[in-house]
Amino acid sequence: MEPIRVMIVDDIPETCENIKCLLHFEPRIEVIGVATDGEEAVKKAEKLRPHIILMDINMPILDGIAATEIISCRVPNSAIIIMSVQGEQEYLRRAMASGAREYIVKPFTSDELIETIYRVYELEKKRQIQAKNLPQQGEPYEGKVITVFSTKGGVGKTTLAVNLGVCLAQEYGFSVVLLDLDLQFGDSAVMLNLSPRQTISDLAADFNQLDAQLLESCLARHSSGLRLLAAPSRPEFAELVSASLVEKVIKLLKERYDYIIVDTPGSFTDAGMVALDYAHQILLVVSTDLPTLKNLKLGLEVLDSLHHKDKVKAVLNRATPEMGIGPGEVEKTLGLPITGQIPSDGRVVVGGVNKGKPFIIGSPQSRAADSLRQLVCQLVQNEPSPNGQRKKRGFLRLFN
Ligand SMILES: Nc1ncnc2c1ncn2[C@@H]1O[C@H](COP(=O)(O)OP(=O)(O)OP(=O)(O)O)[C@@H](O)[C@H]1O
Ligand SMILES: [Mg+2]
Repeated sequence: MEPIRVMIVDDIPETCENIKCLLHFEPRIEVIGVATDGEEAVKKAEKLRPHIILMDINMPILDGIAATEIISCRVPNSAIIIMSVQGEQEYLRRAMASGAREYIVKPFTSDELIETIYRVYELEKKRQIQAKNLPQQGEPYEGKVITVFSTKGGVGKTTLAVNLGVCLAQEYGFSVVLLDLDLQFGDSAVMLNLSPRQTISDLAADFNQLDAQLLESCLARHSSGLRLLAAPSRPEFAELVSASLVEKVIKLLKERYDYIIVDTPGSFTDAGMVALDYAHQILLVVSTDLPTLKNLKLGLEVLDSLHHKDKVKAVLNRATPEMGIGPGEVEKTLGLPITGQIPSDGRVVVGGVNKGKPFIIGSPQSRAADSLRQLVCQLVQNEPSPNGQRKKRGFLRLFN
């Protein structure tokens, strides 16, 4: 994790020293500069580009409000936290209007200050990611497809897909839809405690009329904001869902949603192949047992022959040191770095599944939730530019 770079701006050197002391024992926070008036603060902010600026209000030469206004325009990625004393409400209002992100009332404790810095830093990071993902003016809107895949059943694909979708929708505020392409036994609706009235197989009969509006009417809505296009209600309805229907659905969803998360069964299927073709990122769920690793290696060879290997990110699920095979060996076997790891935690993960409450909301402080957040952060930050077009190709054709 990168250190959080902080700059302190206060005209009283003793106050700057005290704040430095308050932050001294927080390993992730690094004080990279100090300024004693607004003008110096502007110059140093431009040069040092800190993540966070702690800004006093009353200062000589240029006060904190004027400095905030200039810095928010010239160095918009530095988040400013105003330090004020009680009774400066009017100043505070003006400071916030000038672009400050938060304020903290003096005197404050070390815990209060650190908590505020972390909160503002996290929010700012999310805001920047959101801004980066917005299409530029005149650019056509195109959502990103993340396909969760594995060559094995029961490794945690649906668990990952559901929690990933909820996290992107609830914590980042993206518009997100989960497409359940485990057409025979899809269970993402159960994991979200939703009872969709319609599923993807209901769209088959309306293939020719299928448009964004009709598709929208088939989506179930979760309290996190996540939408779901559920898998058919019965296994025998799976055959109604053709590869061309899946392709049409994905194309329509990409026009409206920031992220399309696709859950798949534990094998290559025609519907799943479409989702792999359209994926901007493929999350390959990996576990540390030999049979799974052997099959994953074979699966990766297939993905490579389909020219998908560059999009693959390995996610290690349920890894515990007692398993005998460590992450390093997994990376060596697969020839792929591990992008994220979710620890094994039956109480939190299975408990959440059984309550229909994804662990990211049911147990937001758990290690599993923290690991998922780290993974999500990596995925949204390293978003490759969309390629959009699907190369026509079927799984069976590949082997012919
Ligand atoms: N990190 C974890 N810790 C503990 N239990 C987990 C973890 N991840 C998944 N599980 C449990 O493992 C079981 C299988 O998970 P899940 O249904 O997500 O796998 P899947 O790959 O989608 O399976 P399928 O191929 O059958 O669709 C579930 O009961 C889930 O709660
Ligand atoms: Mg599943």
